[in-house]
Amino acid sequence: MKTILHLISSPRQEASVSIKLGRAIVERLQQQFPGSRVNEVNLLDENIPHLGAPHLQSFFTPETELNSQDREAIAYSDRAISQLKNADIVVLGAPMYNFTIHSSLKAWIDHIARAGKTFRYTDHGPEGLVGDKKVYLAVASGGVYSGGPYEPYDFVVPYLKNILGFLGMTDVTVYRAEGLNIPVLQDHALDEAIANINLE
Ligand SMILES: Cc1cc2nc3c(=O)[nH]c(=O)nc-3n(C[C@H](O)[C@H](O)[C@H](O)COP(=O)(O)O)c2cc1C
Repeated sequence: MKTILHLISSPRQEASVSIKLGRAIVERLQQQFPGSRVNEVNLLDENIPHLGAPHLQSFFTPETELNSQDREAIAYSDRAISQLKNADIVVLGAPMYNFTIHSSLKAWIDHIARAGKTFRYTDHGPEGLVGDKKVYLAVASGGVYSGGPYEPYDFVVPYLKNILGFLGMTDVTVYRAEGLNIPVLQDHALDEAIANINLE
């Protein structure tokens, strides 16, 4: 039995391909680990604020010196970090927007990347503190980025792998539904991505 955190970052609700792909991954995980707890979190519903002065001030103030306003400013960050740390497996839905991730997912990353909480600098360089967990990316894009001329335009998968790795999550498997805006590919893209799910 595992705790699975499924993060959604598409505004398209039932039409979203990254949500469908993410749910297909979660379903397979539930078959593999019967009785698992699934926590599906739609980041668009969280209304995550851009990092502002109150967040930054609180992030860099020692815990014992935080006043009630500071604590309020970092309440979302604290909750998101504990949700993440409590998960054994993370399924991260990532629609491509303008060659990168949707701003709701970037906002979430800005709130969970915290010095002393999820990473720290040591004499040997940065160290991730999130702890070992398996991460699956469910990526949806209109074009094709796994190869071909647009591969260098993909700032979704390289970015997510790097930031997750920086925070200690290095075991990342990528599933892509791609070519969703390309007539000859779009009808099969999701089915092919789901058929490729192999959790072994
Ligand atoms: C505002 C916007 C920007 C997009 N930018 C890109 C892009 O840069 N490259 C691409 O391949 N697809 C792009 N798309 C297409 C989406 O990646 C595609 O519709 C995908 O299915 C979105 O994921 P979702 O179905 O989970 O919402 C864009 C779509 C929208 C609405």
